[in-house]
Amino acid sequence: MAPKTLPSRIGWEEHLKPFLYKELPARTGWTATLGSLCALLFGVTAVTGVFLAMYYNPSPDKAYQSIDYIMNDVPMGALLRGIHHWGASAMVLAVFLHLLTNFFSGTLKAPRELTWILGVCLFLVTLGFGFTGYLLPWDMKSYWATVVSTNIPRAIPVFGDLIARIGLGGDSVSGLTLTRFYAIHMLLLPALLVMLAAFHIYLVRIHGLAETNEKEEEESGDGRNVYRFYPEHAFRSAIVFVAVFLAILVLSLHAPIPREEIAGTLKDNYLPRPEWYYMWLFQLLTYFPGKWEVVGSLAIPILGVAALFLAPFLGRSRLRGVGNRPLAMATGVSCVVAIVYLTAMGFAGARPYGEIIPVPARPLTADEARGLFLYVDRDCAYCHQIDGKGGRRIGPDLANVIAKKRTKDYLGQYIADPQAVKSASIMPKYDLPKSDLHSLAEFLLALDFHAAPMNTLKRDEALRASPAPQNSLNRQPREAAAR
Ligand code: HEC
Repeated sequence: MAPKTLPSRIGWEEHLKPFLYKELPARTGWTATLGSLCALLFGVTAVTGVFLAMYYNPSPDKAYQSIDYIMNDVPMGALLRGIHHWGASAMVLAVFLHLLTNFFSGTLKAPRELTWILGVCLFLVTLGFGFTGYLLPWDMKSYWATVVSTNIPRAIPVFGDLIARIGLGGDSVSGLTLTRFYAIHMLLLPALLVMLAAFHIYLVRIHGLAETNEKEEEESGDGRNVYRFYPEHAFRSAIVFVAVFLAILVLSLHAPIPREEIAGTLKDNYLPRPEWYYMWLFQLLTYFPGKWEVVGSLAIPILGVAALFLAPFLGRSRLRGVGNRPLAMATGVSCVVAIVYLTAMGFAGARPYGEIIPVPARPLTADEARGLFLYVDRDCAYCHQIDGKGGRRIGPDLANVIAKKRTKDYLGQYIADPQAVKSASIMPKYDLPKSDLHSLAEFLLALDFHAAPMNTLKRDEALRASPAPQNSLNRQPREAAAR
C-alpha cells in the first residue's frame, strides 16, 4: 500500500521522476536545447501577452491609443511590449532553427514521422501568431500587411472569396477583422499550440527511448557519460535560454519597435511591409507580376508546406546522416539560401525610396521643373532610380535615356501607355495631359550629368521648387503596382 503522501498522490515515483531524470543519448548535442528554447520562449510571450491583454483594446478607435497607453503610461509597459515583440521574433527563429536541425540531422525519418509532422504544425501555428499579432497595433503597416495578405486567397478558384471573407469578417479589413484576429491570437492559437506541443513532446520522449536502447546503451552503461533530462539537459537549456532572454531584454530596452501612423491615414507613397519573417514571401511576390502572381502567392507556399509535411516519407533511404541523404541535403540548403537571399532582397527593396531626387545643378526650365514635380508627385521612384540613386530598381535607370537616344516623343508615349510601346511592359499607364507628358520627357532628358554636375533635392524641396500642380485629379496611385 502506497503511503498517503503528496508524492504518491501525484505519481512522483511512477511517472514524474522517470520523466524528469530520463536519460537521453550521451551524445546529445547543444542543438537539442532548441526544442526547450521554443517552449521557454512561448512561456515568455504568453506571460507578457497576458499582461498586454489587460490594457489592450481591440477596437479600431481604441487599439492604436491603447498601445500608446501601454508604451507611455503603464508601469514597465514599454518593456513588457518589447519583450513580447522581440520574444515572438526569437520564438519564430528558434522554431525555424529547430525544424532545420532536425531536417539536416535526419531525425524526421521513421519512427519519428509524426513527431516531425506535429513540429511542422507547431511551426505554422507560430507563424499564425505572427500573422494575427501583426494587425493588433492597428497602424499603417499592420493594416496594409493584412490587406495585402488577405487578398492572396482570393485567387483560389470558387472558394477564394469565401476564404478571404471568413478571414476578414467581411469584405475588407475592419473592426471585425481586428476582433477576429485578436480572438485567434490569444485564445485559439495558444490552446492549439499547447495541445500540439504536449503531443509532440510526448512523442519525442517515446522515440528518444528507442534510440537509447538501440545504440547508446554500452556508452551510457559505464556511468561516465550520463546525460539526463534533469539536471544535465535542463541546465544546458537554461544557459541557452538566459543568453537569448538577455538579448531580448537588450533589444526591448534599446531597439524601438517600428510604429507608424494609425491605420487609415491617407499617405501618398506608402509601401506595405510585412514582419521580417514574412519578408521572403513578400519578396517572392514581386517576381511574379500580373497573372503569374498566384505562382508566388499561393502555388509556391502551398507546395512548400506540403513538402515539409511529406519530407519524412520522401526518399527511400532510412539512413540519417548528412552524407547519406545528398538530395535532401542539397534541397534543404537551396531552400535556406533562397529564403535568406529573398529576405535580404526584400529588405533592400523595402528601403525608403524617393526621398532624394538627383537633378542637374543648374536652374531648371519651367518645363523641366514641372516634370520634376510630376516625377516626385507620381512616385516614379517607386520603380526607377536616377543614376543609381533615390529609387527602387524595378525599372531601368532613367539617367540612361540620353545614352539610349530616346526622343521626347518616345518618352512621352512610353509614360502615357507603356504597353503600347512594349507589350510585355509592367509599368502602369499615366493618363496625363500632353503638356505634362512633354514636361516629364523634358525632365528625363535634362538628367545629363556630364553637361551639368548632379545636385540632390529632398522630396519636399523638389515639390516646392516646382510650379504648383495644375491638376492632381487623375493621379495614378501606385496601389495598382503594389498590389
Ligand atoms: C510599377 C513600377 C513603375 C513605375 C511606378 C514607373 N515605371 Fe517606368 N518603367 C518600369 C519598368 C519595369 C520599365 C521597363 C520595361 C517595362 O515597361 O516593363 C519602365 C520603363 C520606363 C521608361 C522607358 C525607358 C526606356 O529607356 O525605354 C520610361 C521613360 C519610364 N519608365 C518612365 C517612368 C516615369 C516618368 C514614371 C513616373 C511617372 C514611371 N516610369 C513609373 C516600371 C515603372
